[in-house]
Amino acid sequence: FSVENTRNFSIIAHVDHGKSTLADRLLELTGAIDKTKNNKQVLDKLQVERERGITVKAQTASLFYNCEGKQYLLNLIDTPGHVDFSYEVSRSLSACQGVLLVVDANEGIQAQTVANFFLAFEAQLSVIPVINKIDLKNADPERVEKQIEKVFDIPRNECIKISAKLGTNVERVLQAVIERIPPPKVHRKNSLKALVFDSTFDQYRGVIANVALFDGMVSKGDKIVSAHTKKTYEVNEVGVLNPNEQPTHKLYAGQVGYLIAGMKDVTEAQIGDTLYLHKQPVEPLPGFKSAKPMVFAGMYPIDQSEYNNLKSAVEKLTINDSSVTVHRDSSLALGAGWRLGFLGLLHMEVFNQRLEQEYNASVILTTPTVPYKAVLSSAKLIKARRAVQKNMMYIDQNRVMLKYLFPLNEIVVDFYDSLKSLSSGYASFDYEDAGYQTAELVKMDILLNGNIVEELVTIVHKDKAHSVGKVICERLKDSLPRQLFEIAIQAAIGSKIIARETVKAYRKNVLAKCYGGDITRKMKLLKRQAEGKKKLRKIGNIEVPKDAFIKVLRTQ
Ligand code: GTP
Repeated sequence: FSVENTRNFSIIAHVDHGKSTLADRLLELTGAIDKTKNNKQVLDKLQVERERGITVKAQTASLFYNCEGKQYLLNLIDTPGHVDFSYEVSRSLSACQGVLLVVDANEGIQAQTVANFFLAFEAQLSVIPVINKIDLKNADPERVEKQIEKVFDIPRNECIKISAKLGTNVERVLQAVIERIPPPKVHRKNSLKALVFDSTFDQYRGVIANVALFDGMVSKGDKIVSAHTKKTYEVNEVGVLNPNEQPTHKLYAGQVGYLIAGMKDVTEAQIGDTLYLHKQPVEPLPGFKSAKPMVFAGMYPIDQSEYNNLKSAVEKLTINDSSVTVHRDSSLALGAGWRLGFLGLLHMEVFNQRLEQEYNASVILTTPTVPYKAVLSSAKLIKARRAVQKNMMYIDQNRVMLKYLFPLNEIVVDFYDSLKSLSSGYASFDYEDAGYQTAELVKMDILLNGNIVEELVTIVHKDKAHSVGKVICERLKDSLPRQLFEIAIQAAIGSKIIARETVKAYRKNVLAKCYGGDITRKMKLLKRQAEGKKKLRKIGNIEVPKDAFIKVLRTQ
């Protein structure tokens, strides 16, 4: 394929506006998949994606399309739709020259339509607006055309109105890709310059790098060097994704495909890295700003004997999702584990679900927290900041776009759900980092009979300390077994107690039910009690079972 007949593009959209359905139709039209099969979200390969109906991981497919007697190679690079994954979107866009911006004909422009449009706009890509779901009874494509013109300054006659579900007008989308998106600007005669824009891990073949070739070519047997690590590798396999891996002899500049070169380690498969031929070094491509985690949580194996298995699962999964940050951590109650950083709450849930589904790991995930920067001062006296309105724009008579500055802590956990239910599902939401702001935060201790429980120390906003402290004390009360003496559970800020619960004294007599003199049964019960004690942690003279920590620390 000549470069002139190659197009690299992505589909971007707000969640549920029909990106995956359109991708399925494009795959069918170009013969990449069979029309007769029941094709649903073919590019969504992960179990978690099919279950939740969301795209998590960008996938690539090379399509072959005949238009006016010419054969074209169209590389479709899939992108996730949810706010948590906008990092993956910008990565996918780096390998493209244009995008299809899909907007639901009923819902119109939503938060991620705007966020994704600007990612494409900043990357200077051609934008083809596609209004989808015109078959719906309440569809109002003319209203959406006006919105697109007003918000994005794209003339309304450029919009293509389709039904991805029924296949209406989908062929026109392919024609527009050929007509309106330029071929990649590359040089096949130069020496190899390939961008690693994604990578996955295969148990048997190691790291599979998704590459976009900017210059030159690469074939099996070539010696390549990573600009990042300067390590040399021999290429074992190259190919295109159609959408499954299909080995080819060579990959040429302008193409997007995969490359396997015996990379085994997480650190070897850097996303954003440039690959070049041995002894033919090139200026590396700019790469990507590393993803910035917004939500942190502790992760521990339910059973410590599972630590090594979980460690290897976490390592492999982070090759597939390099936006997760990993630091080793340990807790007196939960043992050795990690502190993981995620892009958002959904990202955290998806990671956890993938560990369980793809690696059969069962883990304890602690309540998520957000990063704080602490400035220590004798008087902790700094002004608190609540949400501040920054900007407001009417998209049309029915819809308004509002910009606010929020403390991250207020939005990570349940803000999105509350917003959805308050607006009966009409409002949509997107966020970006606005930097650190000063706030009145306090360190809250949890005490059992006056002894601090290290693993339950938290940072909370001063105004919320009372309610958060109360919840923790109540959860602890429900999960602490009664002991020989009374236990005071307290939440405190410095020396000030802000919440308290009491567990009454009680002695559990394990032998109570054993009337009669069956000594072996008695021994069994006593032994079981002793085993149970191993899982206890002593705080002062109070025995706290591991379960109690899990109940308090768990998200739900
Ligand atoms: P994410 O992967 O989460 O970003 O979602 P998506 O944008 O890929 O949306 P998806 O293709 O999964 O479609 C969402 C829902 O809209 C599904 O129930 C589709 O069947 C439906 N849908 C997609 N296109 C059309 C269409 O043209 N008409 C109608 N009526 N429904 C459609």
